[in-house]
Amino acid sequence: MGRMQDKVCLVTGGASGIGLATTKAFAREGGIVVLADLDEAAGREVVGGLGEPASFLALDVTDEAAWETGIAQVVARYGRLDVLVNNAGILSGTDVVSTTMEEWRRVMAVNADGPFLGCKHAVAAMAEVGGGSIVNVASMASYSGAPPLVAYAASKAVVRSLTQTTAVYCMDQRNGVRCNSVHPGPIATPMTGLQSGQELPGLGAAGAPEDVANGILYLASDEARHVNGTALVIDNAITAR
Ligand SMILES: NC(=O)c1ccc[n+]([C@@H]2O[C@H](COP(=O)([O-])OP(=O)(O)OC[C@H]3O[C@@H](n4cnc5c(N)ncnc54)[C@H](O)[C@@H]3O)[C@@H](O)[C@H]2O)c1
Repeated sequence: MGRMQDKVCLVTGGASGIGLATTKAFAREGGIVVLADLDEAAGREVVGGLGEPASFLALDVTDEAAWETGIAQVVARYGRLDVLVNNAGILSGTDVVSTTMEEWRRVMAVNADGPFLGCKHAVAAMAEVGGGSIVNVASMASYSGAPPLVAYAASKAVVRSLTQTTAVYCMDQRNGVRCNSVHPGPIATPMTGLQSGQELPGLGAAGAPEDVANGILYLASDEARHVNGTALVIDNAITAR
């Protein structure tokens, strides 16, 4: 029995980086992975490597109608949705003075609206089958000032708050849905262009996508059945300083 045996797991941004490591971890542990991404070519290639019963879902996380259709398709095909990982995200490197409204809205649309829409529609679908687990991928940037990342850091603070509020709502509803967040430090993915183990001035070594995927796996699994509304920081002591 794998740790995710027969659980139907939707992972957004599953074609690259942390999402890719998460889809592989879920599949290795017996999960039924639905890889959702904008990047159809990369997503389909990953799914081909995972084999049946994994599948690809073309999803722009900013599009509410696409969420509704996508979750309905998952439920129609597999009978339920057990796990959602709101992982898709984009980076933006501008400060509070130079960030345009257009850039602010672009980052908020993917990094904040996306997880909100995911939570909204997944909670409803999960509640119908007695529960499930949502893991939102935030960032250590949600905890402190990050001058060159104003929109990104603010979007991740939204995710932290969304996670807590969703968790409390679900607990009050007794609907069996849990919602937690992970907060990575610098990780070697295409988003950052870092190498795993690369030393960063004042921050230590960059982590590997699997370091975050392992935390997501725990929170998504039944091992974390009493863990709800928590924020798991995965940054090798950067925010502990
Ligand atoms: N890499 C890091 O150092 C780091 C640190 C903290 C948090 N994070 C967060 O982890 C998550 C994954 O980041 P990563 O480093 O693996 O990035 P990545 O760029 O390697 O992968 C992101 C994936 O999201 C997809 N995506 C982007 N916009 C989308 C949209 N609108 N709809 C659907 N899919 C979309 C991309 O196609 C890509 O496959 C992000 O939320 C990011 O903010 C990353």
